[in-house]
Amino acid sequence: MILLDGKKVSNDIKDEIAQEVQKMKDRGEKVPHLAAVLVGDDGASLTYVGSKVRACERVGFESTLVRMSNTTSELELLKKIHELNDNDDIDGFIIQLPLPPQINTQKVLMAVHPDKDVDGFHPENFGKMALDMSTFIPATPFGILELLERYDVETKGKHTVVIGRSHIVGRPMSILMGRRGFPGNSTVTLTHSHTKNITQITCQADIIITALGQPNFLKAEMVKDDAVVIDVGITRVPDETRKRGYRITGDVDFENVSKKTSHITPVPGGVGPMTIAMLLKNTLLARERHRV
Ligand code: GUN
Repeated sequence: MILLDGKKVSNDIKDEIAQEVQKMKDRGEKVPHLAAVLVGDDGASLTYVGSKVRACERVGFESTLVRMSNTTSELELLKKIHELNDNDDIDGFIIQLPLPPQINTQKVLMAVHPDKDVDGFHPENFGKMALDMSTFIPATPFGILELLERYDVETKGKHTVVIGRSHIVGRPMSILMGRRGFPGNSTVTLTHSHTKNITQITCQADIIITALGQPNFLKAEMVKDDAVVIDVGITRVPDETRKRGYRITGDVDFENVSKKTSHITPVPGGVGPMTIAMLLKNTLLARERHRV
């Protein structure tokens, strides 16, 4: 069994990005600048945004964290987005999700200028992705593609089963795995909460990508021998033995499933760190496009 070590690969990618930033500095150019907007004080979102800001520092990017209160109105957030769209110093920005209930997420994501949409959530960018046009690919699916590529995992002609149809992971992943090229050229099945006999489907999968947020969902009897398993789940489970009072658990019963797989991602240390590395990569791309 080969462990797909997202922590290591993401560090390699960050080193590569840091070298690019150094070259920009040597040429006297402006370095990439990422902004993140966090509305409210959800603990997990605070952690994610904090990691994104730290990652910027590590590679030499500029970063700005915009914090807004939990009672922010949709109009106030839209105003802030227009400010960021118009601010030439900022190359790309993200709106950390989820947003409080008084705010319409779709409306907000549509307001982000597509050229600064480093999360790849704007419908224009999502459409370009589906049409094989050059664009920002959402960071988590992009990270999974990069991991498969760097470990040379064959995807051509394989049956890939994606579990979960979220706009952030499952849906784009299902499109990307079926695209022409590598990684891609897979035959894809997208499963979700209304799928019947899911075990029958996962048992036929060469590659399983699970993005449900349900600890221990994928059990050994749902996986065929030598399958590749990518675990996108990140759930906080109460654990009094930990300093923070919780531990992070994926969707996969790792102990039993890993015995059957050819490749598997751990949680933590698999897909999570890749997501951050690819957000940096998209920001570098935004800077390069911004320059021309
Ligand atoms: N919330 C969960 N995942 C993500 C992500 O990739 N980007 C943003 N902006 N919010 C998220």
